[in-house]
Amino acid sequence: MSDLTFEIKSHPNPRSAEERAAVMANPGFGKVFTDHMVVARYSAGRGWHDAQIKAREAIPLDPAAAVLHYAQEIFEGLKAYRTADGGAALFRPDANARRFRHSAERLAIPPFPEDAFVQAMHELVKLDRAWIPDTADGSLYLRPFMIATEAFLGVKPASEYLFLTIASAVGSYFKDPNSTVTVWVSEHYTRAAPGGTGAAKCGGNYAASLAAQSEATAQGCEQVVFLDAVERRYIEELGGMNVFFVFEDGTLVTPPLSDSILHGITRDSVLTLAKEAGLTVKEEPYAIDAWRADVREGRLTEAFACGTAAVITPIGTVKGREESFTIGNGKAGPVAQKLRNLLVDIQRGNTNDAHGWFQKV
Ligand code: PLP
Ligand code: COI
Repeated sequence: MSDLTFEIKSHPNPRSAEERAAVMANPGFGKVFTDHMVVARYSAGRGWHDAQIKAREAIPLDPAAAVLHYAQEIFEGLKAYRTADGGAALFRPDANARRFRHSAERLAIPPFPEDAFVQAMHELVKLDRAWIPDTADGSLYLRPFMIATEAFLGVKPASEYLFLTIASAVGSYFKDPNSTVTVWVSEHYTRAAPGGTGAAKCGGNYAASLAAQSEATAQGCEQVVFLDAVERRYIEELGGMNVFFVFEDGTLVTPPLSDSILHGITRDSVLTLAKEAGLTVKEEPYAIDAWRADVREGRLTEAFACGTAAVITPIGTVKGREESFTIGNGKAGPVAQKLRNLLVDIQRGNTNDAHGWFQKV
């Protein structure tokens, strides 16, 4: 247990219910921010200190701050949901706290205490609970992150850091929540290499994915499918989501975890729920040419993306430089739909949670 405690300083002038309702009417993703934020400081020799939850405001940053030059930064993404009784709940914040620690280790950042991380999420949701949309696909997206703030241009782990968490009222990540997405297979760009930072949730991975994402957008696709960096053959994940494949015999396949894939919490939850639902689940490499052939020959019936932002989003069409193919009739399939319902029911407290994933705030 860490002895870090958060001083809570409520916003002196929070936005009114009318102002909130106006910006939350159609929130989209990551555009509408709440009134508060979490801040804590780290200094070498002192450890983590000055932990507060306070009014959201701009942060002063020296232009020499290490994060601006060498990208020593990590982040997380998790959601709070409005429950049927009008309360609020978090989904597996302890899993995010653990992954945040692993990301910190990979980026040579001092880890943030896991219990303080979970406590900060609870306190922020308590203060900003009015910002949780009560629509079917609405939630409060929490974005914890850490940045190296030491003003120094030498290349070494910094001696000063800031931990922050901001919160955003969100709807669906994709424009049409009831539709499938079209994905672009990136043949030129890869996302992460063995021994690199692919399994860490660091901003640099996302910066490196943007050229491929622009290519995808230019091709009319919503997400990028990244292949392994060695053989350029095995499917790893999407730019911001893990991926699953469903076969006609009911088998579910997802690429195995490695140091070049983000260890998704939704992925882990889906694996558990699928096994409990009686599906055969395999974590094994799956090649892009096998995907094409399995769709062409009718063996693969569905594919879906999963992640905190995406929840479970079926993939309709896959496009590449040479050819494109459509999965089934291009619409959401029954397995993705069933797994999504199982997951969302736990997240929103509509069903018994046998796994200890649902945390009431
Ligand atoms: N893969 C990448 C690259 C991501 O950014 C995300 C989103 O966080 C995921 C997978 C899914 O992870 P999670 O289910 O923990 O949100
Ligand atoms: C998340 O799902 O939390 C992510 O970080 C992915 C990104 C597309 C927002």
